[in-house]
Amino acid sequence: MTETEKNLIQQAEEVARDQRQLVDADPYRQAFHIMPPVGLLNDPNGWIHWQGRYHMFYQWNPFAVTHGAKFWGHVSSTDLVHWMEEPIALAPSEWYEKNGCYSGSAIDRDGELTLMYTGNVKDDEGNRFSYQCTAVSRDGVHFKKQGPVIDSLPKGYTAHFRDPKVWEEDGVCYMVIGAQTLKEEGRVLLYRSENFRDWSLVGPLIGSQQEPLGDFGYMWECPDVFRLDGQDILIASPQGLASDGTNYLNRFQAGYFPGTLNLSEGIFTPGAFTELDKGFEFYAPQTTESADGRRIMVGWMGVPEQAEDRHPTLEHSWIHCLTLPRELTWVNGKLFQRPVQELEKLRTGNPIRHTGVTRSIAPFELEGIEGRTLEVQLSGVDLQAHDYLDINLHNETVLKLSMMEACDITLERTVIGGDAREQRYGSVDQVAEIRIFLDRSSVEIFINDGELVFSSRHFADPKNQAVTFAGDWLSEPVIEAWKLKDTR
Ligand code: FRU
Repeated sequence: MTETEKNLIQQAEEVARDQRQLVDADPYRQAFHIMPPVGLLNDPNGWIHWQGRYHMFYQWNPFAVTHGAKFWGHVSSTDLVHWMEEPIALAPSEWYEKNGCYSGSAIDRDGELTLMYTGNVKDDEGNRFSYQCTAVSRDGVHFKKQGPVIDSLPKGYTAHFRDPKVWEEDGVCYMVIGAQTLKEEGRVLLYRSENFRDWSLVGPLIGSQQEPLGDFGYMWECPDVFRLDGQDILIASPQGLASDGTNYLNRFQAGYFPGTLNLSEGIFTPGAFTELDKGFEFYAPQTTESADGRRIMVGWMGVPEQAEDRHPTLEHSWIHCLTLPRELTWVNGKLFQRPVQELEKLRTGNPIRHTGVTRSIAPFELEGIEGRTLEVQLSGVDLQAHDYLDINLHNETVLKLSMMEACDITLERTVIGGDAREQRYGSVDQVAEIRIFLDRSSVEIFINDGELVFSSRHFADPKNQAVTFAGDWLSEPVIEAWKLKDTR
């Protein structure tokens, strides 16, 4: 470890220690989500199950609640529910990463936990340079940097060249990486390597203005590609999509293409792009495979430059968190995201259960269904034409279902740091089941076992603990709830 690295890590640890009381005093501090100890968190990185533990790293600026020269923070877990804080994994200490150890991924290489990430550098004139770097660890905790393995830009591309996601297949290493052409069109590039040191470009897999896509953004961040239940899926976070009806309403989006991946020629033939999450905060997700072969995705519950100067947590010296881990499945041509089963471990006490809940246009509460850290599950919903159902969470975030030919769903909340109300939208043919996870400052809503998902930060007055229901429906759903525990 170099002196600069040692110093940076020490300074970051000091800030975390000094600010701890202030951070912990925040009523919006989450109970069971991954958060930074202080400062700003963004993308999940290096997500892997390795030697019996899940390792999650994250983009982290310990020194301010703004973006800056990013570190890699690190937590680990055996069960995806209880997370242990690990020592800082990467600090931006070397010339090839001095303005940030940007996003990347992890892989096992001969028993070593191997990270590949982007070294971000800016010179005094503001020119950007990007280096793809590796770091290795024998114990999964202490990392030794190996410097850049790709130190030049592919021809025809700008220095917006980052976020390598690596995997191994039939003895060959592959990497997808976000890129931008000189014409400012977003791309995902595919590289391959026999030895993880010498990498060659196979081709641009997919991108803006490439058949069959039209204008599809000026930069694609954080790509990920995998095969799921026989279907190739490519995930990316394209920047620069114009909003279109009820789609692409956040500043930036994250979504997926089902398609066909041709690894030898470097071509991905895509189906239609679908946003992964229809809530207010979701970006830069990353997936990995669990010990038992499930594909598990975690996203950043934030969006770059979206209300980042107005979050109420800023005065407590921290901002942002990750989403809950979600298991991905491919069912009837659609990607489903269901909260991993392990999350049932969060439930405490007896379930509260109300059967045969009958309609009421006047909002009503159900005994025992209240609290700030809560899971609420509705089953047997079955709305008929003209039925509606509103669920009001803490007098702040409202989920509204309205059945016409299909079920239109609106999520409404107060603008962060403002008074106006704002909405996001989604739609499914029919709603059978709804699962809601409320933490102290977030809500994640899974419709029909994850056919449609809304993730949002939720800054309700901490005194408001009530959940109310209202609407007009004939079916008699079962509504259950569990108080969830604080895992910190
Ligand atoms: C996405 C992103 C990545 C980059 C990282 C920097 O949110 O912009 O493209 O590597 O954040 O923190």
